[in-house]
Amino acid sequence: MPVDAVISLKNISKRYQMGTETFYALRNISLNIERNDYVAIIGPSGSGKSTLMNILGCLDVPSEGQYLLADQAVATLDEAQLAQIRNQSVGFIFQSFNLLPRASVLANVMQPLVYRMIPTAQRRDMAQQALSRVGLSDKLGHFPNQLSGGQRQRVAIARALVTKPAILLGDEPTGNLDSKTTQDIMKLFDQLHEEGHTIVLVTHEQDIADHCRRVIRLVDGQVAQDSRNDMQTQEKMHV
Ligand SMILES: Nc1ncnc2c1ncn2[C@@H]1O[C@H](COP(=O)(O)OP(=O)(O)OP(=O)(O)O)[C@@H](O)[C@H]1O
Ligand SMILES: [Mg+2]
Repeated sequence: MPVDAVISLKNISKRYQMGTETFYALRNISLNIERNDYVAIIGPSGSGKSTLMNILGCLDVPSEGQYLLADQAVATLDEAQLAQIRNQSVGFIFQSFNLLPRASVLANVMQPLVYRMIPTAQRRDMAQQALSRVGLSDKLGHFPNQLSGGQRQRVAIARALVTKPAILLGDEPTGNLDSKTTQDIMKLFDQLHEEGHTIVLVTHEQDIADHCRRVIRLVDGQVAQDSRNDMQTQEKMHV
């Protein structure tokens, strides 16, 4: 294991019992992700991408295998320690946004800071900064149902960024965006990568996968490909 692996999976499986059949959503996955890596996870629908991301984000647990996050065995952590990791080390952008429908854009982004001992005014500042990074400073008082799909996605990204997590996990974070907004969001991920964040994105889009440093392809819950892009391919999307 590389010394600097921030994520280390060893023989991870996730199985579901469907009547008498056992279904493996993930099958014997072993991989390391180093600090400050920039990884795309690709693969057909149903191949296990979200299942893997949920395990990485400590939102779900594997049926078998070991997950080390920043050298800590996740399975041995208690609820309080897990909650702390989820809130502080990992920012998660969900495939389906998960915004609070009755809270404003600003309140949605302030929400992950609620559990911290931070004065409200400072929380508001941090949320405003995160929203400004995704270009939504003019929508602070809107509610999610008053936003377009792409704008909701950007709120979800701001909410993941607001805690300044070391690891940023995105399940199709540009899935609902037009190509201009996608480029803007990818630039934002590039900046965060340059600032030292570790980034793992699920994507269906080839040019986003090409843009990342490393591409992991899942097929039927197994790693079918794990390769590094050369710098030239990555440059293509830079504008
Ligand atoms: N709670 C569950 N019970 C049974 N099977 C499940 C459950 N959750 C997921 N699965 C199955 O696990 C497989 C992997 O699902 P997953 O959501 O990880 O796919 P995905 O690669 O993210 O697909 P997509 O690209 O469509 O988002 C699917 O076949 C799915 O039906
Ligand atoms: Mg999915």
